[in-house]
Amino acid sequence: MTYNFLGNKKLLFDQWAPSYDWLFPSIIYQAIHKRLLEYVDLPKQANILDMGCGTGRLLERLATKFPDLRGTGLDLSSNMLRMARLSNHHRPRLIYIEGNAESLPFGEGQFDAVFSTISFLHYLSPQQVLSEVARVLSPGGRFYLVDITTKKETKPQVLPISPRGIRLYSPKQRELLGSSAGLLCLSHYYLLGPVLLTIFAKPPSN
Ligand SMILES: C[S@@+](CC[C@H](N)C(=O)[O-])C[C@H]1O[C@@H](n2cnc3c(N)ncnc32)[C@H](O)[C@@H]1O
Repeated sequence: MTYNFLGNKKLLFDQWAPSYDWLFPSIIYQAIHKRLLEYVDLPKQANILDMGCGTGRLLERLATKFPDLRGTGLDLSSNMLRMARLSNHHRPRLIYIEGNAESLPFGEGQFDAVFSTISFLHYLSPQQVLSEVARVLSPGGRFYLVDITTKKETKPQVLPISPRGIRLYSPKQRELLGSSAGLLCLSHYYLLGPVLLTIFAKPPSN
């Protein structure tokens, strides 16, 4: 079941990849990336991960703004990654790896920040993904979660678009999901319409 779900999502994004950057949703996503940059705070020589990186546009922007960062883009879709590698202007600082956000192929405490833009809503096991984010973040590291939000407080709002739907979480639900993975919610900011940035921190170790 999970395999088919992932296969279907991968197929959807593999088919979308060649035209992704030129279609209307991506124009909106790029406006969202620009707004997100206003809230990003990174240490010097930060090592960052973009989960569900798509064609790599956010990492390109981050690498331009922070010339000493190193970044890894991870995505389920090999075609998205192919597009990202073709337009990688920051090699070897930026690299792209195929993988699943539910089982990150990285060691503990490896990243100073993790980003996820318009991708978390596709995950069937948000709790598992957040545990993985908490595991790969260094103490004090930040998780920047950007997705469409909902006002429904009781449970995630499931919209029947894309294979097995997408899931929208209210600000409160994000806080609860984060805290059960050991991540502290620092703040929420609306970036564009219902697209909400939530910034989490992994508590510093004692
Ligand atoms: C709407 S696109 C957003 C891409 C990019 N973050 C952006 O802002 O343009 C969602 C991306 O999430 C990826 N994705 C979906 N489920 C995933 C998973 N379980 N693990 C890794 N990537 C996933 C898709 O392949 C797709 O590239």
